[in-house]
Amino acid sequence: MTKPVPVSSRAANIEYAIRDVVVPAVQLEAEGHEIIKLNIGDPIAYPGLPTPPHMVDAYVDALKSGKNGYSPSYGLPQLRQAIADDERRKGWEAKAEDVYVCHGVTEALQLIFAAVLEEGSKVLAPGPHYPPYMAYPQMFGAETIEYQLHQNDGWKPDFDDIASKMDNDVRLLVLINPNNPCGTVCGAEDVDKLLAIAREYPNCIVVADEIYDGLDFTGRHVSVASRSSDVPVIALNGVSKVYYAPGWRIGYMALHDPSSRLELVRDGIERLLRSRLCASTPAQMGYLAGLTGDRAWMSAYANRVMKQRDHCLKRIAAIDGLEVEQPGGAFYMFIRLADEHWAADDKAFVLRLLHEEHVLLVHGSGFSPELGKGHIRLVYLADIEVLDEAFDRIERFLQKYRRTPVIS
Ligand SMILES: Cc1ncc(COP(=O)(O)O)c(C=O)c1O
Repeated sequence: MTKPVPVSSRAANIEYAIRDVVVPAVQLEAEGHEIIKLNIGDPIAYPGLPTPPHMVDAYVDALKSGKNGYSPSYGLPQLRQAIADDERRKGWEAKAEDVYVCHGVTEALQLIFAAVLEEGSKVLAPGPHYPPYMAYPQMFGAETIEYQLHQNDGWKPDFDDIASKMDNDVRLLVLINPNNPCGTVCGAEDVDKLLAIAREYPNCIVVADEIYDGLDFTGRHVSVASRSSDVPVIALNGVSKVYYAPGWRIGYMALHDPSSRLELVRDGIERLLRSRLCASTPAQMGYLAGLTGDRAWMSAYANRVMKQRDHCLKRIAAIDGLEVEQPGGAFYMFIRLADEHWAADDKAFVLRLLHEEHVLLVHGSGFSPELGKGHIRLVYLADIEVLDEAFDRIERFLQKYRRTPVIS
């Protein structure tokens, strides 16, 4: 018998629920079934929301005009400037030198975690949350602690819970705004409460993941950096969601350091950035065109997304066994399974629905075993007809198992 070469426990412990459920779906597709996929937060996976042509043209022009070399490690200077200008429009004095271009927010997160976390450090992140906030910190010997989002209060952060979980080991306090998977939008009052808590801990940096900020249907969204005159904030954003180009893998972190405390962390981040060379050069040119060109298209896209949200809310209200809080932004719904047996095993719901009705969702416990359980996440970017077909099947499935006991 050959023995497999061992894998590191750091890699073996990584979970990414959103893509994990794709494995059985691919199997079903290989058997000839057509699957309605409402699982992935990739706007390009759904028709009607293409990357704006002027951005694509700029990317293609960059390729054709030979911009195929490495860029500076921190990003193309003109892109860093355009991002800083954009952050300034959001209300804080960002400079080009504060901006570091990465392979998406996901790489920015890995670099921040690598630069800040030590054995025994903690990351305080919302529960439920986007999975890498749980998966990556453990690679650095750190631990992610979740603070509660309140379902009955539009999935708003529980500030008492945050305050009670803060201590000097919490090096990063995360706000995802608008939130994935719940769609919560925090306004100025909430952001100020979060900053007031962080202010008491001088080694703590607020990580503000604002990658969905152009998809705010409430008008309340504020940049966290714009509200802080003392607490250090790292703002995260990029091309994946509101510029509709996730496959380009371009994002950034912008360091807001109003009380000059990030000198060492900045140096660490810069060392890490130099050691991984740079982000894709032509893709940076595409993003630059998005930031500097006309953005009228963006509200047209957001209106379409909001209409789809409203349609889903109506459908869910009429289905026995599903309950949802109206999301204020992003393009996700975090739906409660009201039937007891499904509430107790959301993954079984997702897998059985996939096999029987060929609709793919993500189980809520994949976004937090404790605080997400009993839910499903649905991406509402598909065409209304496709969403309707998915809801018809979900309703049929729920009714069937209300009549017949579930065999596990
Ligand atoms: C909250 C959040 N942050 C970051 C990302 C990924 O960003 P990027 O594509 O820039 O790596 C996602 C993707 O779903 C997300 O939901």
